[in-house]
Amino acid sequence: VSVMAEEAKKLAAYAAVDNHIQTNQVVGVGSGSTIVYAVDRLAERVRQEKLKIVCVPTSFQARQLILKHGLTLSDLDRHPELDVAIDGADEVDAGLALIKGGGGCLTQEKIVAGCAKHFIVIADFRKDSKSLGQQWKKGVPIEVIPMAYVPVSRTLAKRFGGEAVLRMAVSKAGPVVTDNSNFILDWKFEHSQNWKEVNTAIKMIPGVVETGLFVGMAEKAYFGMEDGSV
Ligand code: A5P
Repeated sequence: VSVMAEEAKKLAAYAAVDNHIQTNQVVGVGSGSTIVYAVDRLAERVRQEKLKIVCVPTSFQARQLILKHGLTLSDLDRHPELDVAIDGADEVDAGLALIKGGGGCLTQEKIVAGCAKHFIVIADFRKDSKSLGQQWKKGVPIEVIPMAYVPVSRTLAKRFGGEAVLRMAVSKAGPVVTDNSNFILDWKFEHSQNWKEVNTAIKMIPGVVETGLFVGMAEKAYFGMEDGSV
């Protein structure tokens, strides 16, 4: 990752936190590398401005970030209605449809985003795309119940084309296991689709827990650009 992309992530994250966070809010905290900057800024503002903020995490990583900064940790049992959720994305198209789940946290991310009045995306310029698949080449992450990964991957290829591969762990032999103890298939699609329809159709396949297609959810995306603008 270039220094420029890292700086761009930070610019986007800071702008989103400054524009969308105020006191007495319940905030959904996304996962990935960009959200780290947003939590940095959130913690700074909580300290400096004495904001009263409650945070709902979307992953083990997000929970760790919240705890590390001494922010108030909650959950959807206590706070099922969020004012705002902020999260990264792997790719954002011109209509704000997203691919998420590069970090494997898509299911909890979608649940939390769906509970928020406003869902705000933060990313660097590399995620900004006209149509899904132009920038992100790793396909759509799909969380599946472990016993179903072969039938689901066959059904995906047969019905929608391309191929769906089991995501393997990097520093362990075997598959990636999600925070929900499931597997991830990365569906490498061959051509652009009606993402809203495809998302619904994939969710109907037995064994599919959630897809990394976020359609009609994001309200706004902040991109940090190479020239330092947002
Ligand atoms: C995690 O599962 C993903 O959905 C992340 O939100 C997404 O991959 C963005 O991550 P970065 O901020 O690291 O690009």
